[in-house]
Amino acid sequence: MTHTVDNKFIHPWQPESWQSRTAGQQPLYPDAAAVQRVLTDIRQLPPLVTWGEVDKLRRQLAEAGRGERFVLQGGDCAESFADCTAEPIANKLKILLQMSLVLVHGLKKRVIRVGRMAGQYAKPRSADKETRNGITLPSYRGDLINRSGFSAAERSADPQLMRHGYEHAALTLNYVRALVDGGFADLHHPEYWDLDFVRNSPLEADYRRIVQSILDTLNFMETISGQPLSESNRIDFFTSHEGLHLLYEQAQTAFVPETGRWYNLATHFPWIGMRTAAADGAHVEYFRGIANPVAVKVGPAMSPDQVLELCAVLNPHNELGRLTLIHRFGAEQIQSRLPPLVESVRKAGRQVLWICDPMHGNTETTASGVKTRRFENILTELETAFALHEKLGSILGGVHFELTGDDVTECTGGARGLTEIDLERAYKSQVDPRLNYEQALEMAMRIVARKAPR
Ligand code: PEP
Ligand code: CO
Repeated sequence: MTHTVDNKFIHPWQPESWQSRTAGQQPLYPDAAAVQRVLTDIRQLPPLVTWGEVDKLRRQLAEAGRGERFVLQGGDCAESFADCTAEPIANKLKILLQMSLVLVHGLKKRVIRVGRMAGQYAKPRSADKETRNGITLPSYRGDLINRSGFSAAERSADPQLMRHGYEHAALTLNYVRALVDGGFADLHHPEYWDLDFVRNSPLEADYRRIVQSILDTLNFMETISGQPLSESNRIDFFTSHEGLHLLYEQAQTAFVPETGRWYNLATHFPWIGMRTAAADGAHVEYFRGIANPVAVKVGPAMSPDQVLELCAVLNPHNELGRLTLIHRFGAEQIQSRLPPLVESVRKAGRQVLWICDPMHGNTETTASGVKTRRFENILTELETAFALHEKLGSILGGVHFELTGDDVTECTGGARGLTEIDLERAYKSQVDPRLNYEQALEMAMRIVARKAPR
């Protein structure tokens, strides 16, 4: 059975055709002319990524869909312009590289590294307004849109921030590319693979064993071949962000004559958030026409029919690699929600890559009002996801985390046993709580451990 596409979707696509649909979560700018000036500027600036890289990622994601590769997607809930500095960027890249090393070693698969980086600046909010001490102002929607301080001026949507968003994305990406090209990922320099803070961590011994085993293999291969394996310092690193702010995304959408297709060249891999995933909504309309691999967040409220409709609209040619479904149900609901979706996608013959986001369904608020997540709930959702996909005969091709390479205390639990009291020490996220470096590395080790218990 093939799910048919409703006639309402069969119409020509243009980068601006989404504007005739209902677009949720968009900012209201006080000065429309100023918005147009900024967008005109951005349109003329060079793309952040190339279509060749985008096509390469789409091919690799198809391999992940077949179980030949594994996707590690991670980064901040919301990047901030203030954190666009050397250390947080390098640390985030490092933790992602370290996690991927653990995954490559344990899963015996190539890992596709995708940062929630270089453009993750716009946030959907469940409430349009926020009230503090009797004063009501627009919610903070990410550095791309307004400012987090609580005054009318700061909360007013400022179009100049789109220009700054483009620039900060470019600066971040430039540094990431320089680090990667400069040998940051070269296994011959294990010091690059060391985070200072892995020292003294309960995970230190395990991690060192993995690094040593990889180095031994590398040395063995080089001895056999009689030359250095130059490929070992070449890695791919891709970027992703929620394609939420449609005017901004549209301004970076370009027609590529070589392929005859439109691409979003602000990022390799944009996704549609759970709150803007209506099949007849503006976001799906925009995403329908770009050639990038695209992802949709799938939450507990989405029915199997809605998912099939999304598959039909976003991936009419049913190409593996084009569409990723990132499910995020929470540790409690995944058991009942995932199987019907997997079953109906399989019955309809729809090609998708499944990724598990074990973060967003496990957010809770402590008695003192702090947003947090428990390591054990995140792990439970992840382990349940692996087990369910195995049972259902589908493939869990990747994981999606909110994490940082820094020593924050935003999620509880993990090897160091962080408690609610620790949350007071280093809670820095403006939006959702992230795994810190140690919790993130442990998560990678736990993924591997379930495959080969030690
Ligand atoms: C997010 O990824 O930060 C997010 C808001 O996720 P979701 O759309 O799944 O709620
Ligand atoms: Co988030």
